[in-house]
Amino acid sequence: MHEVKVIKNKYITIKNRIDHRAPNESDFIISEETISLNHDKVVVFVKNLYVSIDPYQINRMKTHSCSQQILPNTAAILPGQAIDAGGVGRVVKSTHPDFKTGDLVTGLLHWGEYSVIEGGRTLEKLDPKLDLPLSYYAGGVLGSSGLTAYGGFFEICKPKKGEKVFVTAASGSVGMLVGQYAKLFGCYVVGSAGSKQKVDLLKEKLGFDDAFNYKEETDINSTLQRYFPNGIDIYFDNVGGEMLEAAIENMNIFGRVAACGAISEYTDNMKKAKPDMIAVIYKRIKIEGFLSVDFMDIHEDFITTTVHHLQTGKMQAIEDISYGVESIPTAFVDLFRGNNIGKTVVQITKE
Ligand SMILES: NC(=O)c1ccc[n+]([C@@H]2O[C@H](COP(=O)([O-])OP(=O)(O)OC[C@H]3O[C@@H](n4cnc5c(N)ncnc54)[C@H](OP(=O)(O)O)[C@@H]3O)[C@@H](O)[C@H]2O)c1
Repeated sequence: MHEVKVIKNKYITIKNRIDHRAPNESDFIISEETISLNHDKVVVFVKNLYVSIDPYQINRMKTHSCSQQILPNTAAILPGQAIDAGGVGRVVKSTHPDFKTGDLVTGLLHWGEYSVIEGGRTLEKLDPKLDLPLSYYAGGVLGSSGLTAYGGFFEICKPKKGEKVFVTAASGSVGMLVGQYAKLFGCYVVGSAGSKQKVDLLKEKLGFDDAFNYKEETDINSTLQRYFPNGIDIYFDNVGGEMLEAAIENMNIFGRVAACGAISEYTDNMKKAKPDMIAVIYKRIKIEGFLSVDFMDIHEDFITTTVHHLQTGKMQAIEDISYGVESIPTAFVDLFRGNNIGKTVVQITKE
């Protein structure tokens, strides 16, 4: 049979830097290229099946952000460049001894139809649990969101049974998992989210003890007093800004804040949180930032525990899936419009 030597690839790039404002679809373009499958170097060619859509990418699209210096996958993205992101794909050709045609892989792919991974350095072979969807590994419940929630809650928050936990962006990819881990562990959990539909989901489907729509509240400080009359022990912060300030006001002595994300600050430079440091000192509150990569030593424990919870129906993984590479820009900007529920993932193609 005739061997395929080139493939046509469509991929997403930014047109321009996106500085301190919400992204729009018009900030992105779909580029096309022809990829030669003949390569002198060690290369793995991957057909992308699912790619992860995550808020942190906005910080890579700015002219400057301190986050860009930290890890290779948080580095600045230049206009015209392919955008790397977590995903799941199928190897179509490989000159790397560890990967062969047909292997299922997970790791850093690109927002496009195909990924060309030199050296195969960001890939791992995937041996999925047969009864769980492949999309779960594309940055979702069995990928970086899950590890962030698990490690952030158990390692950073160091919970005790019965403690009162507050989670923001609670119906999102990380937040919905934090709330469920916390409930399964025996904590009292309240979540905040941006619509009635999301609040209902948290209370009726995901087992949160209570939840509120922060967009309907005029004074977040008194809202938190209402939901936590005896104070907050753990705050899992996904949003930063005024929510962090109000949570600090309402925290108990020796409270812990897991500084996971600050999405309200990513697109608005004026929203930087100014927590009351006197409260932090006198209440001996610990505020700790972290990245999911910090928890690789508990990865196996995370997978075993989470797969068990999913298979026994104790935990739910809600996904917001759109189809095709063309849907990536809207899937991304929707994160900042609060249009997603659960993990945002794009299915690039069906096998
Ligand atoms: N540290 C780490 O390693 C790590 C890893 C993954 C994610 N994160 C961070 O965790 C947070 C959640 O990420 P995710 O992937 O789970 O995203 P997500 O929650 O699935 O999606 C983003 C959600 O944020 C909320 N949001 C958007 N703009 C907001 C604003 N101005 N103020 C308050 N809420 C806003 C929206 O929900 P509402 O409708 O509720 O507003 C939106 O649905 C992000 O800050 C992200 O950067 C950190």
